[in-house]
Amino acid sequence: MPYGDPMASDEWTRWLLTRRDGGNAELRAQHATALEVFRDEVLDRAALTPADTVLDVGAGTGLIAFGALERLGPDGHVIFSDISDSGLEECRRRAGDDKRCTFLHAAAEDLSSIPDASVDVVTTRSVIIYCEHKADAFREFFRVLRPGGRLSIFEPINRFLLEHRPDSLFGLRDPEVGHLLAKVVAVYRDGARRGENPMTDFDERDLLRWAAEAGFDGIEVDYRAQLDVPAEPIGDWAARKDVAPNPLAPTYGEAMKVALSDEERAVVDARMTALAQSGTPTRRTLATAYVRALHP
Ligand SMILES: C[S@@+](CC[C@H](N)C(=O)[O-])C[C@H]1O[C@@H](n2cnc3c(N)ncnc32)[C@H](O)[C@@H]1O
Repeated sequence: MPYGDPMASDEWTRWLLTRRDGGNAELRAQHATALEVFRDEVLDRAALTPADTVLDVGAGTGLIAFGALERLGPDGHVIFSDISDSGLEECRRRAGDDKRCTFLHAAAEDLSSIPDASVDVVTTRSVIIYCEHKADAFREFFRVLRPGGRLSIFEPINRFLLEHRPDSLFGLRDPEVGHLLAKVVAVYRDGARRGENPMTDFDERDLLRWAAEAGFDGIEVDYRAQLDVPAEPIGDWAARKDVAPNPLAPTYGEAMKVALSDEERAVVDARMTALAQSGTPTRRTLATAYVRALHP
């Protein structure tokens, strides 16, 4: 199987629909606000015009694709593509009878069912990070774009977290449970070693290089890194434990079960609940990159 794994597709949509926020309304609202910013930043960089054909690669449940539809006129068109059939099904349901939508099961690295030079814009958000063959994806984006077409991408740069804070959970430096939290983080870290995992085998310079090597012009990378930036408190710890940080990862509660004994879990639960109640801030360590580029 060269690209993507259809058998794994449901876990993508399960995460987008529930595991990203554990079904918790407050966390969902927090995410929604952040996601709207990502969506608007990606679409602003895509500089849509009303009759454009937009290909959203790895559309998921349609964050970028539906945002694009809102910016297009009656002659515009959006192709929702993904390796997740359940994601595409959800998008189909949400699109209703909007004739400007089509749906395509395809991996980013193999868009062969889309003709050369047939789309005006390619967008993608948090998808390249899961691709094993990232340079192939950039070559495909270039091939399907017409001359004058635009590429607009957002990706998290998880290598940054791995390099700078490999042992830290929520940026907490807590003398009571720090050693236990480090054991929990190791569950994630062991699956994400730099260079051995698609999620951490690249950074913003690779994105720029792959775009250039594919033939793009006018390449701009907006990179943002945050190290130990004060962030929101833990909130509801029970709810937070049901959250998975990405579609391929366990929830924090699941990782605790792997890493800790019953007694250790009870210690962590008690301490995290106390930290949550006292409103102790977390610290954010995160890097992200927006990339935009032009097909000459
Ligand atoms: C984190 S979600 C992002 C979804 C959407 N772009 C968004 O912004 O909400 C990652 C998406 O990438 C899709 N995906 C994973 N690997 C892929 C691949 N090789 N080609 C295309 N899509 C892929 C998953 O099915 C999932 O829908």
